[in-house]
Amino acid sequence: MTPITRPCIGQEEADAAAKAVLSGWLSQGERVQEFERAVASYVGAKHAIATTNCTTALHLALLAAGVGPGDEVICPSFSFIATANAIVHAGATPVFVDIEPDTYNMDATLIEAAVTPRTKAIVPVDQIGLAADIVAVREIARRHNLKVVEDAAPSLGATVGEGRVGALSDFTCFSFHPRKSITTGEGGMITTNDDGAAACLRRLRSHAASTSDLSRHQSGTVEIEEYRELGYNYRMTDIQAAIGLVQLTKLDAIVEERRRLAHRYSALFARDPRLEVPCEPAGRGHTFQSYCVRLRTPRPRHEIMAGLAAQGISSRRGVMAIHREPFYRERFPSLSLPHTEAATEKTLLLPVYVGLTEAEQDHIVSALRTAIA
Ligand SMILES: Cc1ncc(COP(=O)(O)O)c(C=O)c1O
Repeated sequence: MTPITRPCIGQEEADAAAKAVLSGWLSQGERVQEFERAVASYVGAKHAIATTNCTTALHLALLAAGVGPGDEVICPSFSFIATANAIVHAGATPVFVDIEPDTYNMDATLIEAAVTPRTKAIVPVDQIGLAADIVAVREIARRHNLKVVEDAAPSLGATVGEGRVGALSDFTCFSFHPRKSITTGEGGMITTNDDGAAACLRRLRSHAASTSDLSRHQSGTVEIEEYRELGYNYRMTDIQAAIGLVQLTKLDAIVEERRRLAHRYSALFARDPRLEVPCEPAGRGHTFQSYCVRLRTPRPRHEIMAGLAAQGISSRRGVMAIHREPFYRERFPSLSLPHTEAATEKTLLLPVYVGLTEAEQDHIVSALRTAIA
């Protein structure tokens, strides 16, 4: 079976993880610090704070942005469930806004109508690896004094103009799940240029202890830590960070290869009126977590996915409409987001990963045509 993705990982990462294990320091320590510095430097941000995954990164970033009970946070519904869950974890209410039908990202022209006196933040999502219209989102946030917490789970390595995702919003949250650009098994990272917020995030992710384990270990004196706020255990381990440090050296090559394969799919599908290929607006570099096609055919998507599976190919539904999942449907029963609902019913993700051969890709293309016919 051709998988939907395969991480680009090997002996070097295994050796780095083994070295971390054998060092005797397994929890958050110097390797996490080194990984944080490397990610901050890669994206061009002042600080990076590692966490257990992107969901916890989003939760902490929202808390650092001042979001709490009674607040509203604007976000798209066309996303993974974690985008909205993190807002609910922070005690706030998600306010779902529709997407642009071509980029599948939140339509910035609809945001202002969703702002109320209770709005505290906007969470744009860089869906499937394409940066949202961050420039427009930031301008709206500035006008209404809101924070921007970018859900960049799949977009480490994505670009906007000359800049990289990670340096553009008040907070940017990445995922290191194996389907993302690079992986640490599970893992997350928040980048920010705000010194005070970075210190708050470092505290909150480790039980809100006033000093870290590492600094107590290195101090050479007796340091008794204090707990002045409600904290969390959202720490990454040094084993994961060791893997992440090796993965980061491969990131540009991984993204380049995914982009080559995605553009090759688009060329192969170019003249097929039954398929709409993904768009990449000028100045925005996509990481192509997967290759998302919109089906322009009356045939139900699940039949097409079953047809692909019968030919040995894994696919996934494009992205969910969060407001239609039971937990949120109960809370927003009459919400209608036409572009989100159309996209979630008609989009399909195809495999893209380093190591997918052109012969395998040709087979996927012909299998999709067979499944549609
Ligand atoms: C847009 C988006 N946000 C958040 C997440 C959650 O990431 P994690 O699994 O690292 O918590 C994902 C994961 O798929 C995602 O795609």
